[in-house]
Amino acid sequence: MPIHQSRYTDVYADGSHFLTKNLTPGSRVYGENVVTHKGIEYRTWNPRRSKLCAMLHKGTKFFPFRKESKILYLGAGSGTTASHISDIAVNGRMYCIEFSPRVFRDLVKLCEKRKNMLPILADANKVESYNMYVKEVDIIYQDIAQRDQTGIFLKNISAFLKNNGFAIMMIKSRSIDVTAKPKEVFRKVEKELELEKLKVLEKIDLAPYEKAHAAVVVKYTTFK
Ligand SMILES: C[S@@+](CC[C@H](N)C(=O)[O-])C[C@H]1O[C@@H](n2cnc3c(N)ncnc32)[C@H](O)[C@@H]1O
Repeated sequence: MPIHQSRYTDVYADGSHFLTKNLTPGSRVYGENVVTHKGIEYRTWNPRRSKLCAMLHKGTKFFPFRKESKILYLGAGSGTTASHISDIAVNGRMYCIEFSPRVFRDLVKLCEKRKNMLPILADANKVESYNMYVKEVDIIYQDIAQRDQTGIFLKNISAFLKNNGFAIMMIKSRSIDVTAKPKEVFRKVEKELELEKLKVLEKIDLAPYEKAHAAVVVKYTTFK
């Protein structure tokens, strides 16, 4: 099937994969396939390397990323998923928080080519160490394997997310509790988020792409 616009804004499809328009034609990020169609270069998005892409394959109803989006990405790693978001948010800005110096070096190289990405070497649990660099954002995306991943998510939402903004958290159940069943952990996290008055829009089990992981999408409304 030829490449066509998918049901998700600025995400394309070819019948079996999702793809994004390469913001930096001629360069790849993680060995992904590149396809040129009608003179435009697209990067194939791998759902086994990116939980956000796994969410698309599982049919998420909420995909808030747009051309102008301002995003805070917690746990950007070397930029696999962040690079696809950067392909979408072409006129936006993405603050990429990563605390591992080794991974951060690769992230910096990527951000040198992609002007909508800003790398910040910091611990996502210490908001005060980077709040001078980050402005209010439309979306928070978190993918960190920490025991207190819910607490970190909440802290960043209250520090940086705009009213009516969206936040997506990739829950790794084993990091929170190795002994509990993943479904129980997912339910517990959902309850904790609801207690903080966040509206849980969707919760998606990411199997078979990622075992014992779920994505949760919330909306943040500070006043009615
Ligand atoms: C699953 S990997 C990220 C993969 C990346 N999100 C992607 O899809 O391309 C998780 C990353 O979070 C980082 N991380 C874990 N805890 C963190 C923290 N407290 N602050 C900042 N980064 C953290 C790790 O160093 C690691 O690079």
